[in-house]
Amino acid sequence: MPSFLKSACIGKSSAGVILAVGIALAGGPGALMGDPGAGTRPLAPLPKAAGRSDPGQVALGRLLFRDGRLSGDGSISCATCHDPARGFADGLPLSKGYPGALYFRNTPTVLNAAHGRALYWDGRLPSSDLPTLVRDHLSEAHFMQADGRLLIERLKQMPVYVRAFREAFGGEPTYGRILDSVAAYLQTLQSRDVPFDLYLQGEEDAITPAARRGLEVFRGKAGCVACHDGPMLSDGELHNLGLPRSPQIFDSPERSVTFRRFLKTLGVERYDTLREDIGAEAVTKLDSDRGCFRTPTLREVSRTAPYMHDGSIATLEAVVEFYDRGGGDGVGKDAGLRPLGLTPPEKEDLVEFLRTLSGAVFETEPVELPAYEILPLGER
Ligand code: HEC
Ligand code: HEC
Repeated sequence: MPSFLKSACIGKSSAGVILAVGIALAGGPGALMGDPGAGTRPLAPLPKAAGRSDPGQVALGRLLFRDGRLSGDGSISCATCHDPARGFADGLPLSKGYPGALYFRNTPTVLNAAHGRALYWDGRLPSSDLPTLVRDHLSEAHFMQADGRLLIERLKQMPVYVRAFREAFGGEPTYGRILDSVAAYLQTLQSRDVPFDLYLQGEEDAITPAARRGLEVFRGKAGCVACHDGPMLSDGELHNLGLPRSPQIFDSPERSVTFRRFLKTLGVERYDTLREDIGAEAVTKLDSDRGCFRTPTLREVSRTAPYMHDGSIATLEAVVEFYDRGGGDGVGKDAGLRPLGLTPPEKEDLVEFLRTLSGAVFETEPVELPAYEILPLGER
């Protein structure tokens, strides 16, 4: 178990859900600031961006995030899969991956990623380690498949980048500086003008009465806060919702190949006999973590359909129906998931509440990328 994840998958949440159902439903934003005895952290506005990123590094990271020349064949950038116009995700059930490959999980938003506890659906990296996440993405065969030395020489062929690196870092492009500038940019990608945050800050009318009722269902009868708590609406821990295995992985030769190669890289024994995404077990090697995935943030959720690690649920309405049934039937399902008996109006209110977690759309304007230039011999 990586040390930044508090507890193993099975165990915590059954108690959590039962306690959450007992939360007092006192109205008004003030009541949210502390959930008495619930064992969950209060829902809260996002904290201001942690630390201050260097503006030069952020501006450079913003360009690099959109530059296809950071991928091996030059065809895909971070923004191809994390498209600002789609909530920094891609709108697909499963990620396409690098050309010639197909990835086997859904693309999460990168908005607010720096504020969580663990990165990736299986929580395999702490959120504080963004440079490593960027390195993974650049180098991994299923994402951008780029050789580091090649990237450096490509960037050195563009005087605009060379100047930007000099201004931001006082030196020429290096692999470490590429990672740091993209990480600095990620650090700034935080939701803005979120109706629910305005409500929490005392603006009663920032969300509709239906959404306020939905919030009560979320914290009360439906027990969602047992796992979706705190400023990220995520405990950042691992749970098993009993989702059925995803046939798409094994129906597609390209996806099966990526899946097996990924598991083999993580050192999973019998990686070639598995017919389901085992989730966190591949990282921790604990049987009890089979089928467990990190609770995702619910921030921006109305913009990032389809849902779940396998993109198997198309709409928020269908997600609510899924939980109302008590989750899936898969083996090892979290004991806390039981049929909820929500009424149709409660379901509608819950969805209305989930929609208040998305903020303003930003960073969608086109960016002019530096051009390659023929450099005079011997000059930099
Ligand atoms: C080919 C599509 C693709 C490209 C290109 C891509 N990503 Fe991703 N990204 C994904 C997928 C899929 C995941 C989830 C992988 C998993 O959990 O197994 C992910 C996860 C992430 C996460 C973690 C989010 C979270 O909450 O867990 C961050 C941050 C991120 N990517 C940033 C980047 C950056 C920065 C780049 C460019 C260097 C990039 N991505 C390029 C598909 C892509
Ligand atoms: C036992 C912990 C737990 C409870 C209780 C819970 N969730 Fe989740 N939620 C998760 C986990 C874990 C995932 C990701 C599961 C996966 O992909 O396999 C998730 C995924 C989601 C997603 C999809 C997000 C995305 O980006 O794909 C939504 C929406 C969601 N939950 C809403 C809710 C609502 C609404 C409730 C209450 C009815 C609720 N959850 C209750 C743990 C929980």
